[in-house]
Amino acid sequence: MTVNLVPGSLLKTLPGSYYSDPEIFALEQARIFEAMWICAVRSADVGTPGAFRTVRVGRESVLVTRNRTGEARAFFNVCRHRGARLCTEPAGEVRRAFQCSYHAWTYDLDGRLVAAPNLTKMPDVDRVEYGLRRVHVREWLGYVWVCLAGEAPSFEDTVMGAVRTRLGDIESIEAYAVDRLEFGRRITYDVRANWKLIVENFMECYHCATIHPELTEVLPEFADGFAAQFFVGHGALFGDDVKGFTVDGSEGFERIPGVTAEQDRRYYAVTIRPQVFVNLVPDHVILHRMFPVAPDRTIVECDWLYLPEVVAAGRDLTKSVELFHRVNQQDFEACERCQEATNSRVYAEGGVLVPSEHHLAEFHTWVLDALEEG
Ligand code: FES
Ligand code: FE
Repeated sequence: MTVNLVPGSLLKTLPGSYYSDPEIFALEQARIFEAMWICAVRSADVGTPGAFRTVRVGRESVLVTRNRTGEARAFFNVCRHRGARLCTEPAGEVRRAFQCSYHAWTYDLDGRLVAAPNLTKMPDVDRVEYGLRRVHVREWLGYVWVCLAGEAPSFEDTVMGAVRTRLGDIESIEAYAVDRLEFGRRITYDVRANWKLIVENFMECYHCATIHPELTEVLPEFADGFAAQFFVGHGALFGDDVKGFTVDGSEGFERIPGVTAEQDRRYYAVTIRPQVFVNLVPDHVILHRMFPVAPDRTIVECDWLYLPEVVAAGRDLTKSVELFHRVNQQDFEACERCQEATNSRVYAEGGVLVPSEHHLAEFHTWVLDALEEG
């Protein structure tokens, strides 16, 4: 695969087929989504032993849960007997084991086969060997991250490395104590667009002036086509008369205690390839996770996270959530309009981006390298 990435004012996107071809999509699923660290669920979604979620990672269903000692665990959601889907619900809770509804093979929260009809009469059946197939797990930023690869890439180099590259260091994100924040709101978007169009859009702030009127009111530098991720460590400053990161610039909530004076009144956007966007503002954090399901369809889960006391007090989050909800709707609608045209002969060689952001140029070479290396 050779793709011409022209240096200069304009940067070529990938050819149109990369956004619509099922074969390329299958390759991406295998070599990117099933090979890298994927942000699967919020830790609080599996907050207690036996609470579980099932998530789609690449072409696989993954069962994420917590064992009796409180450690996150993830397994391929496939029964080791005849391969039936073990958990068919997106979320739920078991007391101490998962039981397959086909022939009742039963697995404990660490995945060991603990019971099956006549198991005692089959002493040669190893309970670990026939246990659920484990998936690599890490918890960071209050999320459970999983990796389906046999040998996982370094979490520190890839996931944390992306944050370091963008913000300059890890302390800058730790200041927001994302793992101690609580859910204010989650909105799931079913976006009829290729996941890469969503990444390109997130990293090219060139569109902010035209499609994000509310956002540019709050962050006036975006109205100049200035970029959200312009240089390492850059955070966009709130407008002078803006009181908070809300849909009308009205007061937000108390500043997260660790946020520094330098970070105050600023918005920072971070892209963690392949499927996470983190948005940091002084009083909350907005985190997007993308789950591609087809070349032209991506499920995006977006969480708005607040200080526990803000959520516990039942404070009105409407104006706070509404700002980025509108941004999401505006962005995804734009991505869907691009998706419609990716099959056009005019887009066969791709389009161009205006790469004002420091790492946009790397994205396409990263995708191509990942597809070639697998
Ligand atoms: Fe699960 Fe038989 S397929 S117990
Ligand atoms: Fe946008």
